[in-house]
This record gives sequence, structure tokens and C-alpha cells, in this order.
Amino acid sequence: MRETPSLIKEPKIGEGLTKVSAWPREPTIAPMNSTGQPLGFIIPGKATYPTQPHAPKAMTANTTFPEDFLWGAATSAYQIEGSPLADGAGVSNWHRFSHIPGKIANGDTGDIACDHYRRYEDDVKLMRELGLKAYRFSIAWHRVFPEGRGRLNSKGLDFYLKLADALNAAGIEPCATLHHWDWPAALDDSGGWANRDSARWFADYAHAVFRAMDGRVRHWATLNEPWVIVHAGYFEGAHPPGLRSLEKYPLAAHNLLRGHALAVQAFRADGRGRIGLVANLEPKYAASGRTEDQAAMARAHAYMNRQFLDPVFLGAYPEELGEIFGRHWPGFPEEDLRLIQEPIDFLGINYYSRSVVRDDPANPPVRDARVRQRSEHTDMDWEVFPEGLKACLLWVKRRYGEIPLYVTENGAAFADPRPVEGRVADPRRVEYLRNHLLAAHEAMAEGANLKGYFAWSLLDNFEWAHGYAKRFGLVQVDYATGARTPKDSALFYRRVIESRGAALWS
Ligand code: FCB
Repeated sequence: MRETPSLIKEPKIGEGLTKVSAWPREPTIAPMNSTGQPLGFIIPGKATYPTQPHAPKAMTANTTFPEDFLWGAATSAYQIEGSPLADGAGVSNWHRFSHIPGKIANGDTGDIACDHYRRYEDDVKLMRELGLKAYRFSIAWHRVFPEGRGRLNSKGLDFYLKLADALNAAGIEPCATLHHWDWPAALDDSGGWANRDSARWFADYAHAVFRAMDGRVRHWATLNEPWVIVHAGYFEGAHPPGLRSLEKYPLAAHNLLRGHALAVQAFRADGRGRIGLVANLEPKYAASGRTEDQAAMARAHAYMNRQFLDPVFLGAYPEELGEIFGRHWPGFPEEDLRLIQEPIDFLGINYYSRSVVRDDPANPPVRDARVRQRSEHTDMDWEVFPEGLKACLLWVKRRYGEIPLYVTENGAAFADPRPVEGRVADPRRVEYLRNHLLAAHEAMAEGANLKGYFAWSLLDNFEWAHGYAKRFGLVQVDYATGARTPKDSALFYRRVIESRGAALWS
């Protein structure tokens, strides 16, 4: 079910604007938390300041998740594989970037990472022992097309064929993401995502992979978190290509969406199974009732949560983007927006935290600032806020309709102790997992069409610009030896999966 965008206003935003669809208005119903209080996520309102852990509604152990609920864990190629140049792979953007002194904390690189490229069979065994039903991984484009286009490197592709075969043999559903940020460095040298041709490069790569993996993988995602690709790569410069360009940013964002849509079309022509997009969502709350703070919240919400989903589901960019990018907002042809609306089979949501914001005219591009709350935070300094997951799932349903949803990432970085007699005690991660799954379950009880959940991450891994300092794994990795030790959270998750969720309430 789609909302019909109302044609009520012609935006006058930026130079060179050709023709832009009108944008839809926000619905006027505020989401509720479990005590019936408005959360202030959609409707500007005062932030809530919860200091108590998420308090789920009373439920019995009979209230479980559906039988076909997909219980999984997620990783991505550059974060775990290592062997970045093996078997004819090209140099990736992340390989090049991580070797530039000063870019990554502690000078870390993905050269070895979890050595998963060589240990994948053992890792699949581990997944089976943990009772996982599904595994979300990503394909490294530069292994398949070392230069990004043209010559296909079948040895690089073979790795993913073998991985998918091992997963299928273990009864674990392979869920592949085509682009989780690493791609051939040669493509950055050709203008990156700001080059309009990038959409075609992506679709051609995707098409080759669909054909090669047909029958082995039934569950595909095009892009992981396009918002992070452009925000960190084209605005902050903290990720490759390391740019700070408000001019290139909207072009790159738009081409990511065009590439996504062209890849979905290629899949419809030649692929079997389901395909979707993965977006990171973070509910925004205003720090006060001041009009300026409310407006900052609306901008932040449009920038992070609606920038990619409005075009995909509603065929128009949020009006606020014109305000945010000012003269750099180019406006895009109507036919691109029609392309971008290519229907998808599911939406993947990565959820970690919320943010409470206030107006800050000195802080581009959104002109907001985060107001840190006095509640629990993870090692990433992300607030632990399970209600936000429920709010996101219900917001997507209200705004974009009944599209099937997966939580494709959710998890927490905490510094864990070393194993003691083979055991790693990580009680805070256990509670994080429990409370977010309870929040997801509540959202389902209120009608969210949630089909599965993937914990981030299977393994401790290379956390991008933070290097190995942040540990998100359900399984601890000793980077000196490569040894894997399931943490208490992994054992808890296994009980949750075995009991179809009942263990959450015990
Ligand atoms: C997400 C990324 C994932 C991981 C987590 C912590 O933004 O998709 O690769 O880094 O954050």
C-alpha cells in the first residue's frame, strides 16, 4: 500500500531545478511508547528522557515469534574477510584508505581482520552451533570485478559461491548484500558515486552476481546504508573517498538510488528470490519545545530517515533537503524519480540508537547538534534506547505501508573481558539484545510486518574508522590468534532462537 504524494506545492529549492515531484506531508499521528505516551519522533514535541530500562508489556512465554521468523547475524566483507588482494582481487577503496596514516584509529587495517576469507568453513560451523537460521554477509565488488567494470575475476567470485554452498549445506539461509561500502578504488578514481555512470557500473556488477549465484542465494540487498556512504564519505570525509563536498553529496546520493533501482530491474530480469534495500534509521527527538529545536528535529529526520526512503516509496525527496543543501541542491528529473520507485520486496532496517537534537546554526549541513542524554550509552557513545526500534518499525509502516521488514542490523559495542574458562561474560550486550527483541516483538503485536532479525555482529570485527577498538560481536575474536569464543550473548541468542523468542521472557 502506498501513500499517494499530494501535489500541493512546487518546491523552489536550489539552482538548476528542473522538475521535482511534490513531497508527501508527514502523518499527524504521533507514535506511542508502551505506556501510551507520545514519543515525539514524528510530531515535534518534547523529548522523553527515559532512565529506566525498556519495560516490556506483560507477556507470557506462549507469546512467541512466528515459526518462519528469520533469526540471523550479520557481517560485511571488508570488516571480517582479510586477504584483501587474494586470488586476483583489485585494490578496494577501504584497503587504500585504511593504509593512509591517520585515517583509522590505531593505524588498523582490514589486512587480516577476522581472517574469514580463509576460515569461512569453520565460521559456518560456528553459526550452525549457535543455531542461526540466516546469515547476512556482503560481497566485495573488487574481488569480482578488480577494476570495477569489464573483466570478471571468477576466482574472486568463487569465494562467495563456496560460502553460499557451505551455508546452504548447514541449513542457514544466505542473505547477500551487494554493496556494503567497499568497492574497487578505481571507481573512486573515475568520480565515484558522484559520476552519473556509477548507477550503471553497479547494475552491471549486480547482474553478473545474480546470474552467477542464482539458485544459491534467494535473499538479496542492493545497498547497505546509503546515508552513511554519502554522509561519512562525501560530507565528513571520515570514510573513503574522504571528500567534504556539499556539491557532490546530493549527486552521489541520487546515483546510489538510481544504481539500486537499476540493480532491482536486473534482478527482475534474471534473478530469483527477493530483493530489498538496507537503510539505517535513527528516530530524532527535539531537545525542547522551542520552534527552532523542533525545526532542527524535522531537518535531522528528513536528512537521515527520509532522504532515501521517501524517493523509493513515495517518488519524491523531502522538502527539507533543499533547505539543508541550499544552492547545492540540484533538483532531479522526474524520470529518475520514477526509476527509483522500482518496487522492492522488503526493507532492511539497521537500528542502533536515537538522537535528541537542538538547533545549531553553526553546524552544517543540518544545522543541529546532538544533546547527550543521561542514560546508558555503548562504547560508540550511542544511547541505548530500545523503544526507538519499535518507533522506527511502526513509523515505516505508517509512512510507507505494509512492505515486509527485517531488522538487518542491531547490536552494541562494549569492551568485553577476556575468556575465563572458555566463557566471556557480556551481560550488557545480553540485555541490549533482549530489550531490542522485546521492542521488536511489541511492534509486531501492534502490526509491524517484521519478518526477521539479524544481530550485528556475528564476530568482533573492523569497525571502520574506529578499527578494532569497538567490539560488536556475539563471538569474541582474539586478533592475535584468530581464536573465536562465543560470548554469553551468543549463548543467550541461541536459547532465544531455539525457543522462538520465549527465552526473552525468562
Ligand atoms: C553500521 C554498519 C556496519 C557496522 C555497524 C556498527 O552502520 O552497517 O557495518 O559498522 O554500523
